[in-house]
Amino acid sequence: MYATRRYLMCPPAHFRVTYSINPWMDPAKPVDLPLALAQWEALRDRYRALGHTVEILDPEPGLPDMVYAANGATVVDGRVLGARFAHPERAGEAAAHRAWYRAHGFADVTEPAHINEGEGDFAVTSSWLLAGRGFRSSPLSHGEAQEFFGRPVIGLDLVDPRYYHLDTALCVLDAETDDVMYHPAAFSPGSRAVLARLFPQALLAEESDALALGLNAVSDGHHVFLPEAATGLFAPLRARGYEPVPVDLTELLKGGGSVKCVTAELRP
Ligand code: ARG
Repeated sequence: MYATRRYLMCPPAHFRVTYSINPWMDPAKPVDLPLALAQWEALRDRYRALGHTVEILDPEPGLPDMVYAANGATVVDGRVLGARFAHPERAGEAAAHRAWYRAHGFADVTEPAHINEGEGDFAVTSSWLLAGRGFRSSPLSHGEAQEFFGRPVIGLDLVDPRYYHLDTALCVLDAETDDVMYHPAAFSPGSRAVLARLFPQALLAEESDALALGLNAVSDGHHVFLPEAATGLFAPLRARGYEPVPVDLTELLKGGGSVKCVTAELRP
């Protein structure tokens, strides 16, 4: 019914909101660290309970956003394209990810020349790599990823700072059937037209669900793990044959991320 996946997660041991690099982050708002940890552990345990493998990346002090493990690299066909962060506050995370992959038997680990924030801006379908740009990843990283993975890249322009990464605006539900869900208003008119052409059957998310970061979801092809506040997506997902798995990650929302941001997928 679904294939088990291998994920990489990093516990929010040093999670803080001490700076603001996206509109969700307000350093004046306190973070409940024990609650953040408990919410993160609950997600990890849900993955494991369904048979998925969750690998752990050790968090480092001084890198409060490291919990958003999806940004540290992109792994397709077992090959690892490292990240290069747009903001100096996160720059140190890239080396920690590369070191983890090297230590875990990934032979092909590349440090990129151009800014890319990993799966924050790269999404994988059966045929393409969908690639976001506009706020973080450089358009030049798209060519670099295409060359590295040998997959055609579809560049998509993000236009709303609240949806600063592609994974806040679009989610691949099934990479085999190229089923996706996205929030059209997050994209430029030209990119909307591209998405409509590539994915005419896509599930289109309303603003209320996008604002709950409902598109920042992880799908194993059957279960769709998504923020529990994105209630408007539950029925349409069920109607398409998926099982929504609502997750409470409210503390991590304070950093501007949810389920997908904290989950890197290691694609064999
Ligand atoms: N505070 C982090 C940042 O702004 C959140 C990253 C969220 N990750 C994601 N994959 N969208 O960089």
